[in-house]
Amino acid sequence: MDAAVLATAASAAILAGESVRGRTSPNPPVGCALVDASGELIATGATEPAGGAHAEAVALREAGERARGATAVVTLEPCNHTGRTGPCSHALVEAGVGEVVYLTADPNPLAAGGADFLREHGVAVQHMPIRVGALQPWLHAVRRGRPCVTWKFAATLDGFTAAADGTSQWITGAESRELVHEDRATRDAIIVGTGTALADDPSLTARHPDGSLYAHQPRRVVVGSRAVPTGTNLDRLGYEQYATPEEALAALWESGARDVLLEGGAGLAQSFLSAGLVDMVQAYLAPALLGAGRGVLGGPVAATLAEAHRFTRTLVRPVGDDVLIELERSD
Ligand SMILES: NC(=O)c1ccc[n+]([C@@H]2O[C@H](COP(=O)([O-])OP(=O)(O)OC[C@H]3O[C@@H](n4cnc5c(N)ncnc54)[C@H](OP(=O)(O)O)[C@@H]3O)[C@@H](O)[C@H]2O)c1
Repeated sequence: MDAAVLATAASAAILAGESVRGRTSPNPPVGCALVDASGELIATGATEPAGGAHAEAVALREAGERARGATAVVTLEPCNHTGRTGPCSHALVEAGVGEVVYLTADPNPLAAGGADFLREHGVAVQHMPIRVGALQPWLHAVRRGRPCVTWKFAATLDGFTAAADGTSQWITGAESRELVHEDRATRDAIIVGTGTALADDPSLTARHPDGSLYAHQPRRVVVGSRAVPTGTNLDRLGYEQYATPEEALAALWESGARDVLLEGGAGLAQSFLSAGLVDMVQAYLAPALLGAGRGVLGGPVAATLAEAHRFTRTLVRPVGDDVLIELERSD
């Protein structure tokens, strides 16, 4: 297939997967694009909520007879096992698809083998490795057997979340706060410590700038032993509470969460980092300096430089006057 057509189809598949982030767990947010022999994009599909169709099935349904001889570009290797839906590899063969291009190999031993099945049934298969952002949390989760944890914080350039007198609102600008809400709407859960729950009375909802709620709301999770008082926003909206980070992640995993956001505060973030439970970092840094105040972490997470928690940078993006830096662990 022509390289430009393939690139366009891959972009369409990636966008389709991106559009369903936060609504597919425990399944991954996969996207699929079908292109006919003339290079025309004939259908796209994305994973439906758990129990619904996988991305390939959605695209095949939309394409109907036109799928015969088409090329399917899928962000994740088509699954080869029967869960709540039938194997995608079989559906692609039955629909007469001529070629399958997948961007990420399936790390799940239960579901892997789709590429082999397709080849055995006469379908040309190509692995075109491209990093698909929407799949990264799910890949981390499957590898570690617990939800992927993204630690998000907002700080001054020198790493403070509050000034020496305790003032902390607002460090970053409106655009950053808007992006945080948009991001929350793509997560399975938001976790905070009891310190934050008691000090800030947060709602932990995903809201549009006009205050209205996004269609998808993450679960609200508090970690710690202190009680959240009645009458607070969390009490009104409903939340789950767990005694430790490990207990919270185990319960979230068991109930299907794969992609969670840790929103602080400093004490809980220190605990998650020290326990090796932070997989990604989102740092919203304001062009401001304080020199003293409360740091992003409640205390040391390394005794010496050689023990510093190091990550791979995956994104640097200006957001209004701020800068968003995203990091991912590489082990
Ligand atoms: N700028 C930002 O990005 C940002 C984000 C969030 C919060 N904040 C600020 O941070 C402040 C709160 O920070 P904080 O450090 O006081 O509170 P915190 O981190 O929200 O909560 C600390 C509490 O979490 C629980 N905890 C922590 N590690 C634990 C572990 N390993 N096992 C069990 N429980 C554990 C403990 O609860 P118990 O004592 O109840 O057992 C601990 O007292 C607030 O003022 C808030 O405004 C800033």
